[in-house]
Amino acid sequence: MVYASFRSIGAYVPSQIRDNEWFIQRMDTSDEWITKRTGIKQRRIAAEGEMCSDMGVEAAKLAMSRAKINPKDIDLIVCATISPDFLCMPSTACIIGNKLGLNDVMAFDISAACTGFVYALSVAKAFIESGMKKNVLIIGAEKLSSIVDYSDRTTCMLFGDGAGAAIISATINKDEAIVDVSCSADGAYGDFLLTPGVERETHFMQMKGNETFKVAVKTLTSDVQKIMAKNGYVNSDIDLFIPHQANYRIIKAVGDALEFEDSQKVLTVEKYGNTSSASIPMAINECYEDGRLKKGMTILLDAFGGGLTWGSAIVKFSGE
Ligand SMILES: CC(C)(COP(=O)(O)OP(=O)(O)OC[C@H]1O[C@@H](n2cnc3c(N)ncnc32)[C@H](O)[C@@H]1OP(=O)(O)O)[C@@H](O)C(=O)NCCC(=O)NCCS
Repeated sequence: MVYASFRSIGAYVPSQIRDNEWFIQRMDTSDEWITKRTGIKQRRIAAEGEMCSDMGVEAAKLAMSRAKINPKDIDLIVCATISPDFLCMPSTACIIGNKLGLNDVMAFDISAACTGFVYALSVAKAFIESGMKKNVLIIGAEKLSSIVDYSDRTTCMLFGDGAGAAIISATINKDEAIVDVSCSADGAYGDFLLTPGVERETHFMQMKGNETFKVAVKTLTSDVQKIMAKNGYVNSDIDLFIPHQANYRIIKAVGDALEFEDSQKVLTVEKYGNTSSASIPMAINECYEDGRLKKGMTILLDAFGGGLTWGSAIVKFSGE
């Protein structure tokens, strides 16, 4: 039996920091309102001309070097994004592949908003376990500053730019295997978070914040309860709980409902805001770089986003 293992992580954030003061100078808001409602203090913003693919490439390079993998051994590239370099084609995965010199490799994008990285993980796992691919580069990359409506004060302060990437490889060692990934969607809630697009002449994001908040808390909580029960896991089996970094209040409500200890909960939203598909791999990378995440540990991922989409995963981290 072939299993899929989570072999390495990498991330990249642009150097430009956008703090709450930037918004205060441009609209009727305050540091107190933003902090209290969202927990966000800063976001990273891509430089002029810096594209989604550029950030994805940097994250991918780090993930590949940490996996000590020969790039020629990558046989699938999956990029999750809702802020691609080009509207329809070429896919950002193709652009990233080209920039990495991987020019004869299957590559495609996933559009599952903030759940995108967990969707990409499930695709990588399925391709590997079926025997079709051996080493999959998965990326969550977003230049959300290109689709945020900076005249809408109720949403614009939430989002930032960045990228994360991982190498998922085949293994015969069950102890290294990704335990489970579960993804779902319900298009009936499609209007909660949307970018109207070409026909309606705007590519800016619109959100029903209040409604989204409530469904997010409920879904993120029940999704974890389901995957934990299905696999016979209890909280003490989890080293780190890494939820999508949308909003401090959502994470707190979900973390409290699930009764995780503070030491298990991972929070990066204060520094980066919501980076959609990049948020979970960026958070995993942060734990790896600060030493909280080590080989053999079990992490629990929990994502929710536009679509609506949601997904969770129990992952043994196999990175050195
Ligand atoms: C966006 C969000 C922070 C807004 O918080 P909220 O408590 O729902 O706020 P409301 O929209 O009800 O607005 C409350 C008040 O604040 C005001 N307000 C809105 N944006 C503001 C801002 N940036 N600064 C100051 N006041 C603001 C509103 O006008 C309203 O004023 P009123 O009571 O006088 O009418 C919250 O709904 C949220 O976090 N939603 C989930 C968003 C999310 O994470 N989405 C991604 C999921 S993947």
